[in-house]
Amino acid sequence: MLRQQWRDTPDRYGSISRWLHWGIGVLLLWQLGGMATRALVGPEAWVQLWISTHRPLGTLLMGLIALRASWALFNLPRRPPHRGLLARLAACSHLLLYLLMLAMPALGLYMTWLSGQPFAPLGIPLFKGGSSHVDQMLLARQWHAWLGWTLLALIIGHAGMALLWHALVRRDGTLGRMAGRGR
Ligand code: HEM
Ligand code: HEM
Repeated sequence: MLRQQWRDTPDRYGSISRWLHWGIGVLLLWQLGGMATRALVGPEAWVQLWISTHRPLGTLLMGLIALRASWALFNLPRRPPHRGLLARLAACSHLLLYLLMLAMPALGLYMTWLSGQPFAPLGIPLFKGGSSHVDQMLLARQWHAWLGWTLLALIIGHAGMALLWHALVRRDGTLGRMAGRGR
């Protein structure tokens, strides 16, 4: 029975999927919120402190997102189905969210490596440092920025659809299946 609650069913997402969804959601908003705040208010000391967590937390997120993607694939046959055109579009937007979630930390790590700086997130030595590749680093950084703001826009659209369209207008239980209640 306990095992059943962990796993997804056609009725609702299981506890592992839900923890990963909301936990990663909060961490992603921390990442994007810090950068958006810096763009809006400038590099104040408290904003810099916020942003100082960006690279180690982003690296941790990469592991969590890879875990989430594997868990989603493993549970795919028994997850809540997406029937009809709108629901299929929603499923495509979920796939796009996954691609961006995976691309962001990968690009972040790649540009850190290209910069030639040593990098040891949470004390774990990942790169020793070496020669820098400035042009490629700047290109990777541009992609990191554009894809990052695209991800933020998609998340706002996704949360808006879940909270306004599904929960308030259609009241169809879609939010409930990610909040732990079946339909
Ligand atoms: C899911 C994880 C991540 C998200 C959502 C994210 C998002 C962003 C965003 C939106 C920006 C601002 C871009 C701009 O200047 O307009 C940024 C900058 C940056 N990110 Fe990330 N990032 C993530 C992971 C990482 C990782 C893992 C690293 C490196 C290990 C990294 C390194 C950087 C660096 C070096 C900058 C430029 C900071 C600066 O200009 O001072 N990011 N990131
Ligand atoms: C207030 C914020 C959020 C709300 C209300 C929300 C709501 C939901 C709901 C109701 C579902 C189930 C949809 C369905 O079965 O068709 C869902 C799934 C999903 N959400 Fe969110 N979400 C939020 C934030 C986020 C964030 C920040 C991300 C990260 C990019 C995200 C990515 C996903 C993905 C990929 C799915 C598909 C299921 C999965 O693999 O986890 N969500 N969300």
